[in-house]
Amino acid sequence: MKDGNVYFLRSCTKKDQFPKFTHPEFAFMGRSNVGKSSLLNTLLGKKDLVKTGSKPGVTKTINFFVVNDNKSFVDLPGFGYAKLPSETRKKFMPMIMDYAKARKNLKLVFLLIDIRRTPGDFEHEIIEFLASLKIPTAITLTKSDKLSKNERRKSIQKMEETLGIGRDYIFITSSKNKEGKKELLSLIEEFSQ
Ligand code: GTP
Ligand code: MG
Repeated sequence: MKDGNVYFLRSCTKKDQFPKFTHPEFAFMGRSNVGKSSLLNTLLGKKDLVKTGSKPGVTKTINFFVVNDNKSFVDLPGFGYAKLPSETRKKFMPMIMDYAKARKNLKLVFLLIDIRRTPGDFEHEIIEFLASLKIPTAITLTKSDKLSKNERRKSIQKMEETLGIGRDYIFITSSKNKEGKKELLSLIEEFSQ
């Protein structure tokens, strides 16, 4: 973000703790370790405002960040990580769904998928769930720096087929080389109107 006016507001686990503001909100969902927290740092232009880590299961709460006093970005726990203690793991999907249901100001969800993976049940479940709530979803492929040009072409084609969507609805990103940052920020501006 241009002027760097960004701060961490609150960490929550249930909806009565959510902030009351009504300005446009943007959330980041996806499997553990897919790069949600890293992408947030990239979009916010901060190195480590949002906690990231090499092991899955780093983000365990719903974290609200306020941007320029007129929008919020929300970092969510990842789903689909089998090795977390089952009590914690079972809480995440309902926690994410309760969040989406509760936030009337949620304008757009970025659903992150590692560019090297094939989307599975978790992704399909989330896509259907968000569609049922009529919340727009941007499919956001992460870690594009990990693939060669040829590999990424194949991977994007596979995503289109598996998800049944066109190339125009898929965003390619890398928190390492900042690919896709401009496009995502434009999308956020568009959905903030
Ligand atoms: P959870 O909070 O556990 O759900 O994970 P997360 O989705 O927030 O992932 P996080 O941002 O913590 O990143 C996980 C790992 O992937 C870290 O080691 C990051 O450095 C790495 N990573 C994230 N984005 C990228 C990327 O674009 N390229 C590369 N090469 N590594 C990345
Ligand atoms: Mg995280």
